[in-house]
Amino acid sequence: MALRFEVLGRFNRARAARLTLPHFVCQTPLFMPVGTQGTIKGLTTNQLEEIGCQIILGNTYHLALRPTSELIDELGGLPKFMNWPRAMLTDSGGFQMVSLLHLADITEKGVTFQSPVDGKPMLLTPEESIQIQNRIGADIIMALDDVVKTTITGPRIEEAMYRTLRWIDRCIAAHKKPNEQNLFGIVQGGLDPVLRDICVRGLVERNLPGYAIGGLAGGEDKDSFWRVVAQCTALLPEDKPRYVMGVGYPLDIVVCSALGADLYDCVYPTRTARFGTALIPEGVLKLKHKAMAEDTRPIDPMCACMVCKNYTRAYIHCLVTKDAMGSQLLSYHNLHYMLQLSRDLHSSIIEERFPDFVRGFLQNMANVQK
Ligand code: GUN
Ligand code: ZN
Repeated sequence: MALRFEVLGRFNRARAARLTLPHFVCQTPLFMPVGTQGTIKGLTTNQLEEIGCQIILGNTYHLALRPTSELIDELGGLPKFMNWPRAMLTDSGGFQMVSLLHLADITEKGVTFQSPVDGKPMLLTPEESIQIQNRIGADIIMALDDVVKTTITGPRIEEAMYRTLRWIDRCIAAHKKPNEQNLFGIVQGGLDPVLRDICVRGLVERNLPGYAIGGLAGGEDKDSFWRVVAQCTALLPEDKPRYVMGVGYPLDIVVCSALGADLYDCVYPTRTARFGTALIPEGVLKLKHKAMAEDTRPIDPMCACMVCKNYTRAYIHCLVTKDAMGSQLLSYHNLHYMLQLSRDLHSSIIEERFPDFVRGFLQNMANVQK
């Protein structure tokens, strides 16, 4: 195993931990920003360090197509290639193909999709996904899983869960760098507690360095989503990191952390930035709105980030949708917000004031949204 996970503090099921990875020592709970093409759009790696980013995500699927994993490998791995000195995680690729390309077809062999480059059919097998991720060189690599939308029902959910369990053994067998990279398994099973139970137990038997909860945040209601997270965290080992994939909104991260999850990733903070929306303690601030045109306050007067120290809402309003700088400044602030939230969760658990922190967080959100 190429990681150490030490729980430093708890409140009920919530935990604050130190996660030691090959390239960085991280504090959890932790939000991990998503970069697709070997960059977090609009931010330099220096800026990512400045806002306290500890792990960034890369996508196997995008990187395998361009610049290709062989080239990344030749150039010393992605962390070096993109000048990122801290930790990295790559997703296996299947989810991206299924969610981005509706033409993807899943069989026992793997995921077949039409190449967006030349339209030719391509097959991503569990073995290939791991081989590509071994070349990219992230601290954490993800198993190839069979993902179905949680909103569908019937035998397909069961098939996908059992296939995910069969594929984990192919992933483990294909993994050539277990002393340098940590392979995480992914729990599937839709909203069915029986299937989730079988999947968690099957993965835990394989004694992996960490576990992810997948197949969520795909349109199911919050109650079902939180129920699945609560069930999985209760069954997963206490001494391994737990990662809820594709999550999420600040509120989801607070709730999932209370339920015992540690790691999160989502495109939301950077995507919403590109649409002119800032994350603030009260919820969101729409910088495109006319009311911002003459507002000389920072995005969030309480925020300590570079953007809030230097720029007004009026200035960002003026840039937004007209110049790349607008979405860059908003992405910077939004990621700072998510990482500050991660640090606040960690320290409030350590300092035994987690319930007060959650109460304050919910009160802020409730104040302005209605
Ligand atoms: N990203 C968000 N959800 C998922 C999932 O279920 N599986 C994978 N591999 N990636 C995801
Ligand atoms: Zn700010």
